[in-house]
This record gives sequence, structure tokens and C-alpha cells, in this order.
Amino acid sequence: ATPLRTLAAAKGKFIGFAAATSPLANEAAYRTIAQTEFNQITAENAMKWDATEPSDNSWNFSGADQIVNFAVANNQAVHGHTLVWHSQTPGWVQGLGATAMRTAMQDHITTLVGRYASNTALQSWDVVNEVFEENGSFRSSFWYNTLGQSFIADAFRYARAADPDAKLCINDYNVEGINAKSTAMYNLVQSLRAQNVPVDCVGFQGHLATQYGFPSDLQQNMARFAALGVQVRVTELDVRILTPRTSAKDTVQAQYYTNVVNACLAVTACAGITIWGFTDKYSWVPDTFPSEGFALPYDSSYAVKPAYTAINTAL
Ligand code: XIL
Repeated sequence: ATPLRTLAAAKGKFIGFAAATSPLANEAAYRTIAQTEFNQITAENAMKWDATEPSDNSWNFSGADQIVNFAVANNQAVHGHTLVWHSQTPGWVQGLGATAMRTAMQDHITTLVGRYASNTALQSWDVVNEVFEENGSFRSSFWYNTLGQSFIADAFRYARAADPDAKLCINDYNVEGINAKSTAMYNLVQSLRAQNVPVDCVGFQGHLATQYGFPSDLQQNMARFAALGVQVRVTELDVRILTPRTSAKDTVQAQYYTNVVNACLAVTACAGITIWGFTDKYSWVPDTFPSEGFALPYDSSYAVKPAYTAINTAL
């Protein structure tokens, strides 16, 4: 089959994957698919705060550099993930008072974004991740509880100052369809842009599950964000099924992948799709959702599944 990246590029879109650092370093089969099929990479964990700045102003860029170097060698774009999140952030940050927390956030963003600002592979960042509750209120995180909602605008301003060229994104899950959470995100993006806060992009994570149904208004939702003037993207796509895997479930899953690709193709402002991994050998799903799995387009032996064929055919 024609590689996904060739097909996507012909449509003006990226097709990417979340990279795990260990197989990227150690497994030829993983590397081969990574470089052949994809033209964009997100670090699954290597750019998160706990990986990059485990203690105050003590930095570890090994995993982040590994991924950026791989991307440069293979002519792939990198999406930085993620600067400000309530999860995978060290305790030393969580315990700070307001002034010190804001300073720590500024230092973290300035250093991490600044490191890759002149690297043309690094084209975008998730500046804030998962700031909403399901009902559309702001998530009760240590960020919000210490700083109030101003941490969001501040984070975008610090990121813009550190890399004026990167697309700056707000990212979340369960915002693929039109619902209370995605409408809160829509209202926030509209209000931030009205205040000249540099929000360029909205990320829909896309952690879908066949037992919950497909968000059939995905395209309509993307279109309303696009009308605000932002780029949209699917940032963490996977489609989990209830175990055991069957061919009937593979077929339903493949249709979900088709639907996501079609929605992105139908919306000019949709820059592309990142799959949260590519092989069932390395997926966060079984570790996170009991009795669920098999969410990705390659099986654990790197054989293509119907989901791969669906993406390839739709692109
Ligand atoms: C997940 C990774 O896949 C896991 O390896 C890690 O243990 C936890 O985080 N939303 C996000 C991602 O924005 O960063 C998360 O990634 C999945 C949910």
C-alpha cells in the first residue's frame, strides 16, 4: 500500500503517531513503520513535565531530543506535548504558592519551548491540556485552584514569547462532539482570542471507544472551531474495543478510523491526525482501561489490521 504519509501529504494533511522512546531506540520493526508511514510525531511521554524537569531547574532532555532528532532525520513534524497539565507534573510544582507557581510555569515553558524554537521540525505545542471538567467548568486542578483561570492565558503568552512561530494549542478529550465540555472550550477560545491571547489551535484528543458510539457531529464541531479562526487537529486518536478482539469489532473500529479521517479531510482548517501509538504492542489502553484494548491500526506483531486499511483507503 502507498504509505499513509504520502497519501496525507497529497491532501495537505499530516498523519502522525505518539512515539514511545524505548522501542524507537531499540526495535527495528517499530522504527521502520514510524519512518515509512508517518510524517508527524508527538512524544507520548518524553516532553511532559515529569520527564523534562523532574526537580526545579534540573532538566532532562534525553527522550525529547531523541524524538526530535528522529523526526529531523525522517522529515517529520513534531508536536510538543505538553507544557501545562495537572497530570505527570512533579510534586514540587504542585505544592508551590501562587507567585512561585506562576514563575515555575514561566521558567518551564521558556526553557522547554526555547530549546526547540529554532528547530524547524518542532511546529506546534499543546500549551494547556485537559483544563475542563465534563460539565464544562474549569477542572479543579492545582493550577486552577492556585492561580485561577489566568494560568491559561499566561501559559499561551509565555509560549508565544519563547517560540513566535509555533502553533499553540489547547487540547482535551471528550470534546470531539458538540457537548457541554466542547462548548466550554469553544467559548474559552473565543474569549481568549478576543483578548489577543495567542491561541492558534484546538486539539481533539480522540480517545474513542466502540462501546460508546462515534461522535457523529465531529465534523460539525471541527467546523465551528475553524470559524473562530483556529487550526484544529486530532491529537491522540485511538479506538479501543472491549476484549476479546473479534473480526466484527475490528470492522466497527475500522469504520471509526474512516469517520475521523473523513471529518478531517472535509474541514480545511483540520491540519491532520495523530494516532496515539500505532501498534497494540505499545498502547496506553490496556494499562488504563480494564478489559479494553486493541485500539491501534497495527497488531502487537506489527501486522496491519482493518483499521490501517481504513485509514489508508480514506486518505
Ligand atoms: C498517557 C500515555 O499514553 C501513558 O503512557 C502515560 O502513562 C499516561 O499518559 N491524554 C493525554 C496523554 O494528553 O498525554 C495521555 O498519555 C493520554 C491521555
